[in-house]
Amino acid sequence: MKLPFLSTEKLALGLDIGSHSIKVCELKLTDKTYSIVNLGSIILPEGAVEDGSLHNPEAVGSAITELLKNLKIKHKKIAISISGYSVIVKKIHLAVMEEKQLEEYITAEAEQYIPFDIDDVYLDFQDLKTNSENSNSTDIILVAAKKEIVDEYLSMLRDLGLQPVVVDVDAFALENIYESNYPLNENVAIVDIGATKMHINIISNGTSVIAKDIVMGSRQLTEQIAEAFDISTEEAEALKIGQTPAEDKQEQIGKIFTSICTQWVLEIKKAIDLYHSNKANQQLDKLVLSGGGSKVAGLIEFLQKETNVPVEIFNPFMKMLKNPKQIDTEYLNNIGPEMAIAAGLAIRTSAI
Ligand SMILES: Nc1ncnc2c1ncn2[C@@H]1O[C@H](COP(=O)(O)OP(=O)(O)OP(=O)(O)O)[C@@H](O)[C@H]1O
Ligand SMILES: [Mg+2]
Repeated sequence: MKLPFLSTEKLALGLDIGSHSIKVCELKLTDKTYSIVNLGSIILPEGAVEDGSLHNPEAVGSAITELLKNLKIKHKKIAISISGYSVIVKKIHLAVMEEKQLEEYITAEAEQYIPFDIDDVYLDFQDLKTNSENSNSTDIILVAAKKEIVDEYLSMLRDLGLQPVVVDVDAFALENIYESNYPLNENVAIVDIGATKMHINIISNGTSVIAKDIVMGSRQLTEQIAEAFDISTEEAEALKIGQTPAEDKQEQIGKIFTSICTQWVLEIKKAIDLYHSNKANQQLDKLVLSGGGSKVAGLIEFLQKETNVPVEIFNPFMKMLKNPKQIDTEYLNNIGPEMAIAAGLAIRTSAI
């Protein structure tokens, strides 16, 4: 989303502020090809970001400063994204209008489409221009973001001496980076599983047909492991990601994985069923997983078995140039799924 008072002239830094970690991605565009300049992440203290809002702006600010310092990033122009209850994305169907007329109509009528007071939100829209010779109406994507939440992010970044130039929505950033790497003529479900939220976006021939945010994520596993063995969150996290050998805890951890992954898979299946009820004869070609939760051992096989759809891990850098001397290939492959939104922010900015 472009806010009215923000502008950008060149590529900005993609900054994805998640509830578990902050990811940064710097890209360069040369002759229509992106190359990776710099990227990295830093873990946030627990509770610093919850439900898409900044509970502890100071801690988030310090983490950003540390991350940029560690990576020696001097860039000040930042693209961020928001998600969660503070942002509403809605597809509406309207008669075709000129841009100016459409803007006036949306400003006057937006309240009937969104559950917030119009004075409390930033509004943006995009005409998908789906009208045809036989139809004089078109689909419009309407985005409303709570000013209070967006302003919190903007003032936190400005206090750090940074210049926010773009505020996007997680879902759009994910869709954009997918479309810049993968073919558009497929029906695909992109599923981002973070620490606290899961985003499902089903795209059919380049258009999003189902988009859902669900309050589930990999932190559920950490919490259950901590509770089962009466250990700290840090110890549970290390066990979960395999940093600490599970040994005699293996069986119980396996059971926790199965029970939580079953919940995730159920939500994904519900979205697929909804897709099929709208597009009955168009089969889903694949499921693409991003976010740290996509790395849960055994998830790919489980999901594939339960849905009968091929599952793969999202590689947001697939078509980009990389220099292994600058960025270690193993590190890049490992962090790729978590970097999808940050990379999507970095390319979105370049298009403006
Ligand atoms: N190998 C692994 N197995 C299981 N979980 C993992 C693994 N690696 C990372 N994770 C989990 O992924 C989560 C972090 O993923 P990500 O960076 O996508 O989340 P986030 O963007 O910070 O969170 P959110 O988007 O939900 O606010 C953490 O909960 C982390 O423990
Ligand atoms: Mg995330």
